[in-house]
Amino acid sequence: MTHRADRRDPEAFPVDDKRVYDAYVAGRQSAALAAGIRLGLFDLLEESPASEESVGEQLGLGVRPRRALLGALETMGLLVRKGSELALARDASAYLVRDKPGSLWGLIDMEIENFLSPATLLEALREDRSTVYGADDPWEAHEQDPERARAFTAAMHSVSERPAAGLAEVVDTRGVRSVLDVGGGSGALSIALARKHEELVCVVWDLAVVCELAREYARKADVAERVLAEPGDMFRQPFPEGHDVVLLSQILHDWPPEKGATLVQKAYTALPRGGRLWIHEKLVEEDLTPRANTLVSLDMMVWTEGQQYRESELRAMLAGAGFERVERRATAGYWSLIEAWK
Ligand SMILES: C[S@@+](CC[C@H](N)C(=O)[O-])C[C@H]1O[C@@H](n2cnc3c(N)ncnc32)[C@H](O)[C@@H]1O
Repeated sequence: MTHRADRRDPEAFPVDDKRVYDAYVAGRQSAALAAGIRLGLFDLLEESPASEESVGEQLGLGVRPRRALLGALETMGLLVRKGSELALARDASAYLVRDKPGSLWGLIDMEIENFLSPATLLEALREDRSTVYGADDPWEAHEQDPERARAFTAAMHSVSERPAAGLAEVVDTRGVRSVLDVGGGSGALSIALARKHEELVCVVWDLAVVCELAREYARKADVAERVLAEPGDMFRQPFPEGHDVVLLSQILHDWPPEKGATLVQKAYTALPRGGRLWIHEKLVEEDLTPRANTLVSLDMMVWTEGQQYRESELRAMLAGAGFERVERRATAGYWSLIEAWK
């Protein structure tokens, strides 16, 4: 057994182990978050702060489980102590409570069934294919299984709601009447645009099973008259014409560069002269910052054929398709909009 003093011996252990150790334990943080979400811990504490004993009782957790989970979330800063009670930190209250606008609840809850585990990642890296649903293609799996489509679409909605509001705020909609939201999913982007800009009509163009869901989201958001959903296949069909803007939000990152270039070319073909393409993505800078965006390429390995792109790579695709003026703007958090004019 190594004596503790040996570990401090600068000759035997000249390099600090904390960065490696912290990276190793980081996966426990997402596991604790997802477990807390599924147990309803954050919803409970949103109602009112509570003692550890009371939390354990209400969630049916014994002393050891409750100490392990609450201790983890407290050291992560998501729970804060107020006297003898635990309460939610401000960000936990904003992003971990079910059904709050912009909450990441759906995204994190999906981790329980579809965790990016070392095993799924290893398989995806070795085979260079998505492994999340075993051998099945994720989009075909959604078409076959509406419940999977629903869970995935809810997760995407929860990722997209907040940046969607950011996008709606920064876009210049002068001269824009109609937006084609290609692979629009829940319609999170279209809903935010329609809410902020009363003159806009947005069409979510996605697989039929997803269009059903987009219509539900639009109804709930009370914008069903201006957020429509039309089934289509972005690879098998030309993009519908007659729209001033084509929006690709988190679409290019699902596909390899050559398929991305095809989609950008199809957008160019469908747009009128003066029409615009809006690309909304979490971009990776040349120095691999921000880390959160660079790490998403691991999710893309496990879920898709794609990757997180750099601005320079998207500019090359846009130039290849014939787009002329290209501008980039921050929308919210880690997100950016790239706007290109035909
Ligand atoms: C990563 S999600 C993005 C959803 C939405 N744009 C957002 O940012 O929240 C990708 C979307 O592309 C859709 N999709 C995948 N393959 C498609 C295809 N061949 N034709 C149309 N939509 C497709 C999926 O159903 C899904 O809704």
